[in-house]
Amino acid sequence: MSKTQVICFANNKGGSGKSTTCANLGYELSSLGKKVLMVDGDMQLNLSLSFFDEETVLAMAESEKNLYYAVRGKKDLKDYIVNTPYENLDLIPSSILMSQVEYELFTMMQREFVLKKCLSSIKEEGKYDYILIDAPPTLGTWVINILCASDKVIVPVEASPWGLFGLANLFEFLGNMSEMTEAEVMGVLITKVDERKNYYRQTLEILDSYESINVFKTYIHVDSSIEWAQDASKPVSVFKKSTRSSKEFAELAKEVKKNGSR
Ligand SMILES: Nc1ncnc2c1ncn2[C@@H]1O[C@H](COP(=O)(O)OP(=O)(O)OP(=O)(O)O)[C@@H](O)[C@H]1O
Ligand SMILES: [Mg+2]
Repeated sequence: MSKTQVICFANNKGGSGKSTTCANLGYELSSLGKKVLMVDGDMQLNLSLSFFDEETVLAMAESEKNLYYAVRGKKDLKDYIVNTPYENLDLIPSSILMSQVEYELFTMMQREFVLKKCLSSIKEEGKYDYILIDAPPTLGTWVINILCASDKVIVPVEASPWGLFGLANLFEFLGNMSEMTEAEVMGVLITKVDERKNYYRQTLEILDSYESINVFKTYIHVDSSIEWAQDASKPVSVFKKSTRSSKEFAELAKEVKKNGSR
């Protein structure tokens, strides 16, 4: 069995914290000495923007060395890896053209497994401890590709009145995927917790009532440093080590590491 664990971040609810979690968990795992490859699976390019400035991200998006061309040509993603400024942390950049990926996949054989195939040699090689894939807020064939390429799914849920809306459908969707993928839900991560508001308690109570769902012990509180860090294209721990969310992402990395240990 490959030692590389593939984890994706999925929730069709937009703005739930998928890209933020993918970027910061990636950084924290790498600073624990783990070798991490992140895959920007979204045309919004938010994961790439978490590490590189706009000009660099757009240049990567306009080149042919990005996820869109790899998937379209069913290429080995090993040739599309970019080093981030941080040790042990690499990225496969995305493209605005990912908006067309559903259309490209439509005519392909085994269309649900194209990403899995593109990642197979990196996974078999076992050089990375983790591959983290940021998914867009949709549930189409492309996200099915992401799920089919994954061993585990982390579902970030915003602690807000609408954060839980649709979550039952998402879990039903993930349940229906079990014939195609062995990907299991590692856990729900509650994000943007604001203790001045009551929603997060409701969110917790409701999630606790779903007995079969693991909820991470770590929550991510609302923290304006996250947005400042993103503006500076840096992980929050690099931007401001003392800030609350920096410690929370470090704790989350420990939980994920423990969960994934074999
Ligand atoms: N803990 C937090 N505190 C404050 N702001 C946050 C926090 N987490 C995320 N944000 C902000 O919320 C917005 C949405 O976060 P993010 O982009 O990570 O969500 P997403 O699920 O990836 O969104 P999409 O579905 O559009 O891909 C971003 O502007 C981000 O800066
Ligand atoms: Mg995102």
